[in-house]
Amino acid sequence: MNPNVADILIESLPYIRKFAGMTIVIKYGGHAMVDEQLKEDFARDVTLLKFVGLNPVVVHGGGPQINQVLERMGISPKFVRGMRLTDEPTMDVVEMVLGGKVNKAIVAQINRQGGRAVGLSGKDGGLIQAKKMKIVHQETADEPPEIIDPGLVGEVTQINPLIIDTLAKQGFIPIIAPVGSGEAGETYNLNADLVASRVAVALSAGRLIYLTDVDGVLGPEGGLISSIDAKTIKKMVEEGTISGGMIPKIEYALEALRGGVQKVPIINGKRRHAILLELFTDSGIGTEVTV
Ligand code: ARG
Repeated sequence: MNPNVADILIESLPYIRKFAGMTIVIKYGGHAMVDEQLKEDFARDVTLLKFVGLNPVVVHGGGPQINQVLERMGISPKFVRGMRLTDEPTMDVVEMVLGGKVNKAIVAQINRQGGRAVGLSGKDGGLIQAKKMKIVHQETADEPPEIIDPGLVGEVTQINPLIIDTLAKQGFIPIIAPVGSGEAGETYNLNADLVASRVAVALSAGRLIYLTDVDGVLGPEGGLISSIDAKTIKKMVEEGTISGGMIPKIEYALEALRGGVQKVPIINGKRRHAILLELFTDSGIGTEVTV
C-alpha cells in the first residue's frame, strides 16, 4: 500500500478509539444535499462512522426542495427576516417534503451504502415538542417594535430523545426531519440548525457538526480560523467580524456548548468527505468551536 495511505489510516486510530460510542449529531444541508456526488459521499461517510463505532445522528434541512414543490403547486414562497411565512397550506407542503421526500431520499442513500438508516420527524415518539415562535423586532430605540408573525414557525420547547437512543442502540442511524408538534397537536416548521443543537444537547453528543457551504469561520483578514473558543467567537460577533447567516449558527453552537457538547465543528460540505477529515485528522478541515 502507498505509505501515505497507511499514514492517514494510522492518524485516524487515536480518534476512532477516542470516539468509540460517542454520539455525533450532524446538521446536513446546503450544497451537500443537492449535488449527486456529495450526496453519495455523505451517505458513505455516515455509514463509515457507524461501522467504526461512533453513533451518528442526522438532522437535515430542505429549504430549496420545499421551494421547488411550492412553486410547482403555484404557491410562491414568502419569507420574513429569513423565516418562511408558514400558513397551513405551506405547512402541509413543508411536512410532506421534509418528512417524506427529503428524509426518505437520505434514508435510502445511506441504506444503499450498507448503513441502516431510519427516518423520523419530530412527531415520532414525541421526539420534538414545539410552540409558536413570536418575534418582536425593533430596528432602533425610537421606532415602535414590530411584531412578526411567521405563522406555523416554531421554537423547540422539549426534546424527548428516547426514540433516538432506542434506534441507535439497535444499530440504526436516525435521520431527523425538523418538524415538531405543539401541545394541541398542531405542526410546526422548525429551523434545522436549532433542532440539531437541541438534539445534540439532549443526547449528550460529543460533537455537533454543522455542514455548511463555507469553509468555516473566517478571521478579519479572511483566513480560516481552525479553532476558536466561545469567548473569542462572541467578541467577533460583537465586533461584526462574524455576520449574516453565520450568526444564528454561532448562537446555536454556543448553546450546544453550554449544554455540554464538547466541540462544534463548522465545516464545508462542498469538500468531499469533509466529515471524515474533520473527525479523523489532527488538523481537521473547518472551524471547531470549543468552550
Ligand atoms: N479530529 C480532531 C477532533 O475532532 C481534531 C479536529 C480539529 N479540527 C479543527 N478544525 N481544528 O477532535
